[in-house]
Amino acid sequence: MSYAAIIGIGSYLPERRLTNADLERLVDTSDEWILTRTGIAERRLAGEDEATSDLAIAAARAAIADAGVAPEDIDLLVLGTSSPDHVFPSTAALTQTGLGLRCPAVDVMAACTSFIYALQHATATIESRRARTVLVIGADALTRHVDFTDRRTCVLFGDGAGAVVVQASDEPGVMGIDLGTDGSGADVLTIPAGGSALPCTPDRLAQGLHHVRMNGAEVFKFAVRVIPETTRRALAASGLGVDDVTWLVPHQANQRILDTVAERLGVPRERVVSTIANVGNTSAASIPLALDDLYTVGNLRPGDVLALVGFGAGLTWGAVIVRWTKGPAR
Ligand code: ACO
Repeated sequence: MSYAAIIGIGSYLPERRLTNADLERLVDTSDEWILTRTGIAERRLAGEDEATSDLAIAAARAAIADAGVAPEDIDLLVLGTSSPDHVFPSTAALTQTGLGLRCPAVDVMAACTSFIYALQHATATIESRRARTVLVIGADALTRHVDFTDRRTCVLFGDGAGAVVVQASDEPGVMGIDLGTDGSGADVLTIPAGGSALPCTPDRLAQGLHHVRMNGAEVFKFAVRVIPETTRRALAASGLGVDDVTWLVPHQANQRILDTVAERLGVPRERVVSTIANVGNTSAASIPLALDDLYTVGNLRPGDVLALVGFGAGLTWGAVIVRWTKGPAR
Protein backbone atom coordinates (compact mmCIF):
# COMPACT_ATOMS: atom_id res chain seq x y z
CA MET A 1 0.00 0.00 0.00
CA SER A 2 1.23 3.46 -0.87
CA TYR A 3 0.34 6.14 1.67
CA ALA A 4 0.21 9.92 1.22
CA ALA A 5 2.20 12.30 3.39
CA ILE A 6 2.49 16.09 3.52
CA ILE A 7 6.08 17.02 2.60
CA GLY A 8 5.74 20.77 2.06
CA ILE A 9 3.50 23.63 3.13
CA GLY A 10 3.16 27.32 2.31
CA SER A 11 0.67 30.17 2.40
CA TYR A 12 0.03 33.67 1.16
CA LEU A 13 -1.95 36.62 2.46
CA PRO A 14 -2.52 39.76 0.40
CA GLU A 15 -1.03 43.03 1.67
CA ARG A 16 -4.22 45.08 2.04
CA ARG A 17 -5.62 44.99 5.60
CA LEU A 18 -9.21 45.74 6.52
CA THR A 19 -9.61 46.36 10.25
CA ASN A 20 -12.78 46.51 12.31
CA ALA A 21 -12.21 50.26 12.56
CA ASP A 22 -12.26 50.44 8.74
CA LEU A 23 -15.57 48.53 8.74
CA GLU A 24 -17.03 50.94 11.31
CA ARG A 25 -16.65 53.59 8.62
CA LEU A 26 -18.45 51.44 6.01
CA VAL A 27 -21.45 49.99 7.89
CA ASP A 28 -23.32 50.37 11.18
CA THR A 29 -21.11 48.08 13.28
CA SER A 30 -18.51 48.26 16.03
CA ASP A 31 -15.15 46.70 16.80
CA GLU A 32 -16.69 45.41 20.04
CA TRP A 33 -19.64 43.69 18.22
CA ILE A 34 -17.38 42.04 15.66
CA LEU A 35 -14.81 40.87 18.22
CA THR A 36 -17.29 39.43 20.70
CA ARG A 37 -19.56 37.77 18.08
CA THR A 38 -16.84 36.46 15.75
CA GLY A 39 -13.34 36.89 17.24
CA ILE A 40 -12.20 38.72 14.08
CA ALA A 41 -10.03 41.85 14.43
CA GLU A 42 -8.83 42.25 10.86
CA ARG A 43 -8.76 40.50 7.51
CA ARG A 44 -6.82 40.80 4.23
CA LEU A 45 -8.26 41.86 0.89
CA ALA A 46 -6.87 40.78 -2.46
CA GLY A 47 -5.48 43.74 -4.40
CA GLU A 48 -7.48 45.05 -7.33
CA ASP A 49 -5.18 43.29 -9.78
CA GLU A 50 -4.95 40.12 -7.67
CA ALA A 51 -7.23 37.20 -8.55
CA THR A 52 -7.66 33.89 -6.72
CA SER A 53 -5.06 32.26 -8.98
CA ASP A 54 -2.50 34.91 -7.96
CA LEU A 55 -3.04 34.05 -4.29
CA ALA A 56 -2.83 30.34 -5.16
CA ILE A 57 0.41 30.73 -7.11
CA ALA A 58 2.12 32.58 -4.25
CA ALA A 59 1.08 29.97 -1.66
CA ALA A 60 2.02 27.09 -3.97
CA ARG A 61 5.49 28.55 -4.66
CA ALA A 62 6.15 28.59 -0.90
CA ALA A 63 4.90 25.00 -0.49
CA ILE A 64 6.96 23.71 -3.42
CA ALA A 65 10.10 25.42 -2.04
CA ASP A 66 9.40 23.98 1.41
CA ALA A 67 8.97 20.47 -0.05
CA GLY A 68 12.17 20.80 -2.06
CA VAL A 69 10.60 19.19 -5.14
CA ALA A 70 11.20 20.22 -8.74
CA PRO A 71 8.19 21.48 -10.75
CA GLU A 72 8.51 18.51 -13.10
CA ASP A 73 8.06 16.14 -10.14
CA ILE A 74 4.48 17.34 -9.62
CA ASP A 75 2.04 14.89 -11.22
CA LEU A 76 -1.26 16.62 -10.42
CA LEU A 77 -2.60 19.95 -9.13
CA VAL A 78 -5.90 20.01 -7.22
CA LEU A 79 -7.19 23.45 -6.30
CA GLY A 80 -10.08 24.04 -3.91
CA THR A 81 -11.93 27.32 -4.34
CA SER A 82 -15.39 28.82 -4.53
CA SER A 83 -14.25 32.17 -5.90
CA PRO A 84 -12.68 31.09 -9.21
CA ASP A 85 -11.06 33.67 -11.48
CA HIS A 86 -13.67 32.84 -14.16
CA VAL A 87 -16.44 30.32 -14.84
CA PHE A 88 -13.83 28.83 -17.15
CA PRO A 89 -10.94 28.29 -17.63
CA SER A 90 -10.45 26.72 -14.22
CA THR A 91 -8.40 28.54 -11.62
CA ALA A 92 -6.27 25.39 -11.45
CA ALA A 93 -5.34 25.80 -15.14
CA LEU A 94 -4.30 29.43 -14.59
CA THR A 95 -2.35 28.44 -11.49
CA GLN A 96 -0.65 25.58 -13.34
CA THR A 97 0.66 27.85 -16.08
CA GLY A 98 1.61 30.57 -13.59
CA LEU A 99 3.75 28.03 -11.74
CA GLY A 100 5.30 26.68 -14.95
CA LEU A 101 3.87 23.18 -14.35
CA ARG A 102 2.91 20.70 -17.08
CA CYS A 103 0.73 18.36 -15.01
CA PRO A 104 -3.08 17.95 -15.14
CA ALA A 105 -4.87 20.51 -12.99
CA VAL A 106 -8.44 20.61 -11.71
CA ASP A 107 -10.67 22.76 -9.50
CA VAL A 108 -12.62 21.25 -6.63
CA MET A 109 -15.59 23.28 -5.46
CA ALA A 110 -17.05 22.51 -2.05
CA ALA A 111 -17.17 26.03 -0.57
CA CYS A 112 -15.29 26.27 2.72
CA THR A 113 -14.75 22.47 2.67
CA SER A 114 -12.93 22.66 -0.68
CA PHE A 115 -9.44 22.11 0.76
CA ILE A 116 -10.58 18.96 2.60
CA TYR A 117 -12.16 17.58 -0.59
CA ALA A 118 -9.02 18.50 -2.58
CA LEU A 119 -6.79 16.72 -0.05
CA GLN A 120 -9.01 13.64 -0.27
CA HIS A 121 -8.71 13.70 -4.07
CA ALA A 122 -4.91 13.93 -3.81
CA THR A 123 -4.71 11.16 -1.23
CA ALA A 124 -6.91 8.77 -3.23
CA THR A 125 -4.86 9.42 -6.38
CA ILE A 126 -1.60 8.71 -4.58
CA GLU A 127 -2.93 5.63 -2.77
CA SER A 128 -4.12 4.20 -6.09
CA ARG A 129 -0.64 4.92 -7.52
CA ARG A 130 -1.95 7.17 -10.29
CA ALA A 131 0.28 9.97 -9.03
CA ARG A 132 3.32 10.21 -6.77
CA THR A 133 3.42 13.92 -5.96
CA VAL A 134 0.34 16.16 -5.82
CA LEU A 135 0.06 19.88 -5.17
CA VAL A 136 -3.07 20.72 -3.16
CA ILE A 137 -4.17 24.35 -2.84
CA GLY A 138 -7.00 26.08 -0.99
CA ALA A 139 -7.47 29.64 -2.29
CA ASP A 140 -10.32 32.10 -2.06
CA ALA A 141 -11.04 35.78 -2.62
CA LEU A 142 -14.57 35.74 -1.25
CA THR A 143 -14.46 39.44 -0.43
CA ARG A 144 -15.04 39.90 -4.16
CA HIS A 145 -18.52 38.42 -3.61
CA VAL A 146 -19.40 40.24 -0.41
CA ASP A 147 -21.75 43.20 -0.22
CA PHE A 148 -19.82 45.87 1.69
CA THR A 149 -23.09 47.51 2.67
CA ASP A 150 -24.38 44.34 4.43
CA ARG A 151 -23.04 44.32 7.98
CA ARG A 152 -24.22 40.72 8.57
CA THR A 153 -21.70 39.30 6.08
CA CYS A 154 -19.04 41.90 5.22
CA VAL A 155 -17.35 41.66 8.62
CA LEU A 156 -16.71 37.92 8.29
CA PHE A 157 -14.62 37.24 5.22
CA GLY A 158 -11.00 37.70 4.19
CA ASP A 159 -8.85 36.56 1.25
CA GLY A 160 -5.84 34.22 1.19
CA ALA A 161 -4.36 30.92 0.05
CA GLY A 162 -2.59 27.92 1.53
CA ALA A 163 -0.97 24.93 -0.16
CA VAL A 164 0.56 21.58 0.64
CA VAL A 165 2.66 19.15 -1.38
CA VAL A 166 1.54 15.57 -0.78
CA GLN A 167 3.75 12.66 -1.81
CA ALA A 168 3.66 8.85 -1.80
CA SER A 169 5.20 7.43 1.35
CA ASP A 170 5.76 4.04 3.02
CA GLU A 171 3.98 5.23 6.14
CA PRO A 172 0.92 7.45 6.72
CA GLY A 173 0.69 10.44 6.47
CA VAL A 174 -2.89 10.96 5.74
CA MET A 175 -4.98 8.49 7.76
CA GLY A 176 -8.78 8.38 8.07
CA ILE A 177 -11.03 10.64 6.01
CA ASP A 178 -14.71 11.46 6.43
CA LEU A 179 -16.68 13.54 3.91
CA GLY A 180 -20.31 14.59 3.70
CA THR A 181 -22.74 16.66 1.66
CA ASP A 182 -26.37 17.60 2.23
CA GLY A 183 -27.70 19.58 -0.71
CA SER A 184 -31.04 20.08 1.02
CA GLY A 185 -29.28 22.85 2.97
CA ALA A 186 -28.26 24.72 -0.20
CA ASP A 187 -30.24 27.85 0.71
CA VAL A 188 -28.50 28.36 4.05
CA LEU A 189 -25.42 29.86 2.43
CA THR A 190 -25.40 30.85 -1.22
CA ILE A 191 -24.39 33.29 -3.93
CA PRO A 192 -27.66 33.04 -5.88
CA ALA A 193 -26.79 34.78 -9.17
CA GLY A 194 -23.92 34.49 -11.63
CA GLY A 195 -24.31 30.82 -12.52
CA SER A 196 -26.55 28.99 -14.97
CA ALA A 197 -29.55 29.11 -12.62
CA LEU A 198 -29.66 32.91 -12.42
CA PRO A 199 -27.29 34.54 -14.91
CA CYS A 200 -26.41 38.10 -13.92
CA THR A 201 -28.84 40.66 -15.33
CA PRO A 202 -29.12 44.35 -14.44
CA ASP A 203 -32.21 43.52 -12.39
CA ARG A 204 -30.52 40.74 -10.42
CA LEU A 205 -27.44 42.90 -9.89
CA ALA A 206 -29.69 45.67 -8.55
CA GLN A 207 -31.16 43.15 -6.08
CA GLY A 208 -27.66 42.14 -5.00
CA LEU A 209 -28.24 38.49 -5.89
CA HIS A 210 -24.58 38.18 -6.90
CA HIS A 211 -23.51 38.64 -3.27
CA VAL A 212 -23.11 36.16 -0.41
CA ARG A 213 -26.43 35.38 1.30
CA MET A 214 -26.22 33.64 4.64
CA ASN A 215 -28.50 32.46 7.41
CA GLY A 216 -25.89 32.95 10.15
CA ALA A 217 -27.79 31.21 12.93
CA GLU A 218 -28.38 28.09 10.80
CA VAL A 219 -24.72 27.95 9.74
CA PHE A 220 -23.72 28.22 13.38
CA LYS A 221 -25.98 25.34 14.46
CA PHE A 222 -24.86 23.20 11.52
CA ALA A 223 -21.16 23.84 12.24
CA VAL A 224 -21.23 22.99 15.94
CA ARG A 225 -23.13 19.75 15.19
CA VAL A 226 -21.18 18.55 12.18
CA ILE A 227 -17.59 19.34 13.24
CA PRO A 228 -17.61 16.95 16.24
CA GLU A 229 -19.45 14.26 14.21
CA THR A 230 -17.12 14.28 11.21
CA THR A 231 -14.00 14.54 13.42
CA ARG A 232 -15.06 11.48 15.45
CA ARG A 233 -15.82 9.47 12.29
CA ALA A 234 -12.44 10.31 10.68
CA LEU A 235 -10.64 9.47 13.93
CA ALA A 236 -12.47 6.14 14.17
CA ALA A 237 -11.45 5.36 10.57
CA SER A 238 -7.85 6.01 11.69
CA GLY A 239 -8.13 3.74 14.74
CA LEU A 240 -7.73 6.81 16.97
CA GLY A 241 -9.80 8.74 19.51
CA VAL A 242 -10.19 12.39 20.48
CA ASP A 243 -7.49 12.05 23.17
CA ASP A 244 -4.95 11.21 20.47
CA VAL A 245 -5.40 14.57 18.72
CA THR A 246 -2.41 16.90 19.14
CA TRP A 247 -3.97 19.75 17.13
CA LEU A 248 -7.54 20.29 15.98
CA VAL A 249 -7.31 22.50 12.87
CA PRO A 250 -10.90 23.52 12.04
CA HIS A 251 -12.16 25.81 9.32
CA GLN A 252 -11.91 29.33 10.75
CA ALA A 253 -15.38 30.87 10.50
CA ASN A 254 -16.11 32.17 13.97
CA GLN A 255 -14.26 31.97 17.32
CA ARG A 256 -17.50 31.06 19.09
CA ILE A 257 -17.87 28.05 16.78
CA LEU A 258 -14.30 26.97 17.67
CA ASP A 259 -14.98 27.38 21.41
CA THR A 260 -18.25 25.42 21.26
CA VAL A 261 -16.66 22.64 19.23
CA ALA A 262 -13.70 22.36 21.64
CA GLU A 263 -16.14 21.91 24.50
CA ARG A 264 -18.36 19.39 22.66
CA LEU A 265 -15.41 17.29 21.52
CA GLY A 266 -13.59 17.55 24.85
CA VAL A 267 -10.43 18.98 23.23
CA PRO A 268 -8.59 21.55 25.41
CA ARG A 269 -8.88 25.07 23.95
CA GLU A 270 -5.10 25.37 23.62
CA ARG A 271 -5.16 22.39 21.23
CA VAL A 272 -7.65 24.09 18.89
CA VAL A 273 -5.81 26.21 16.33
CA SER A 274 -7.23 29.70 15.89
CA THR A 275 -5.98 32.27 13.40
CA ILE A 276 -9.33 33.95 12.86
CA ALA A 277 -8.45 37.19 14.67
CA ASN A 278 -5.97 38.23 11.99
CA VAL A 279 -7.42 36.75 8.80
CA GLY A 280 -11.19 36.27 9.24
CA ASN A 281 -12.96 33.55 7.29
CA THR A 282 -10.75 32.77 4.28
CA SER A 283 -12.95 29.88 3.11
CA ALA A 284 -10.94 27.16 1.30
CA ALA A 285 -7.68 28.77 2.45
CA SER A 286 -8.42 28.75 6.15
CA ILE A 287 -7.26 25.21 7.04
CA PRO A 288 -3.91 25.28 5.17
CA LEU A 289 -3.32 28.85 6.43
CA ALA A 290 -3.87 27.69 10.02
CA LEU A 291 -1.67 24.64 9.43
CA ASP A 292 1.13 26.79 8.00
CA ASP A 293 0.84 29.08 11.00
CA LEU A 294 1.36 26.10 13.35
CA TYR A 295 4.30 24.92 11.25
CA THR A 296 6.03 28.29 10.95
CA VAL A 297 5.92 29.04 14.66
CA GLY A 298 7.51 25.63 15.30
CA ASN A 299 4.52 23.93 16.91
CA LEU A 300 4.48 20.79 14.74
CA ARG A 301 6.56 17.75 15.69
CA PRO A 302 6.89 14.44 13.83
CA GLY A 303 4.26 12.06 15.21
CA ASP A 304 1.73 14.81 16.03
CA VAL A 305 -1.84 13.87 15.13
CA LEU A 306 -3.74 16.63 13.30
CA ALA A 307 -7.48 16.69 12.74
CA LEU A 308 -8.19 19.00 9.78
CA VAL A 309 -11.93 19.73 9.74
CA GLY A 310 -13.98 21.74 7.26
CA PHE A 311 -17.61 22.76 6.82
CA GLY A 312 -19.35 25.09 4.44
CA ALA A 313 -21.97 25.84 1.84
CA GLY A 314 -23.60 22.94 0.05
CA LEU A 315 -23.94 22.04 2.82
CA THR A 316 -20.61 20.21 2.91
CA TRP A 317 -18.28 18.98 5.63
CA GLY A 318 -15.29 16.71 6.10
CA ALA A 319 -12.30 15.76 8.23
CA VAL A 320 -8.85 14.42 7.39
CA ILE A 321 -6.62 12.94 10.08
CA VAL A 322 -2.90 13.46 9.43
CA ARG A 323 0.07 12.05 11.29
CA TRP A 324 2.72 14.76 10.85
CA THR A 325 5.88 13.29 9.39
CA LYS A 326 7.88 16.39 8.50
CA GLY A 327 10.77 17.92 10.40
CA PRO A 328 10.75 21.47 11.76
CA ALA A 329 9.91 24.53 9.65
CA ARG A 330 12.55 25.92 7.30
N1 ACO B 1 -22.55 44.74 13.56
C1 ACO B 1 -23.52 45.07 14.40
N2 ACO B 1 -24.67 44.41 14.49
C2 ACO B 1 -24.85 43.36 13.68
C3 ACO B 1 -23.86 42.95 12.77
C4 ACO B 1 -22.68 43.69 12.72
N3 ACO B 1 -21.68 43.37 11.89
N4 ACO B 1 -24.32 41.86 12.10
C5 ACO B 1 -25.54 41.60 12.57
N5 ACO B 1 -25.86 42.51 13.53
C6 ACO B 1 -27.09 42.62 14.29
C7 ACO B 1 -28.25 41.98 13.60
O1 ACO B 1 -28.83 42.89 12.67
C8 ACO B 1 -29.17 41.69 14.75
O2 ACO B 1 -29.84 42.88 15.09
P1 ACO B 1 -31.42 42.84 15.38
O3 ACO B 1 -31.57 41.92 16.55
O4 ACO B 1 -31.71 44.27 15.67
O5 ACO B 1 -32.03 42.31 14.13
C9 ACO B 1 -28.21 41.37 15.89
O6 ACO B 1 -26.94 41.90 15.50
C10 ACO B 1 -28.07 39.90 16.15
O7 ACO B 1 -27.89 39.25 14.90
P2 ACO B 1 -27.65 37.73 14.82
O8 ACO B 1 -27.52 37.33 13.38
O9 ACO B 1 -28.64 37.00 15.68
O10 ACO B 1 -26.23 37.65 15.51
P3 ACO B 1 -25.45 36.37 15.94
O11 ACO B 1 -25.08 36.43 17.35
O12 ACO B 1 -26.09 35.11 15.41
O13 ACO B 1 -24.10 36.54 15.12
C11 ACO B 1 -23.03 35.73 13.16
C12 ACO B 1 -24.14 36.60 13.70
C13 ACO B 1 -21.69 36.24 13.65
C14 ACO B 1 -23.04 35.75 11.64
C15 ACO B 1 -23.27 34.30 13.68
O14 ACO B 1 -24.59 33.89 13.42
C16 ACO B 1 -22.34 33.32 13.09
O15 ACO B 1 -21.15 33.37 13.29
N6 ACO B 1 -22.85 32.34 12.36
C17 ACO B 1 -22.03 31.41 11.69
C18 ACO B 1 -21.92 31.86 10.30
C19 ACO B 1 -20.54 31.84 9.77
O16 ACO B 1 -19.56 31.63 10.44
N7 ACO B 1 -20.49 32.06 8.49
C20 ACO B 1 -19.27 32.17 7.83
C21 ACO B 1 -19.44 31.74 6.45
S1 ACO B 1 -19.92 30.17 6.39
C22 ACO B 1 -18.67 29.19 6.36
O17 ACO B 1 -17.55 29.58 6.45
C23 ACO B 1 -18.98 27.82 6.26
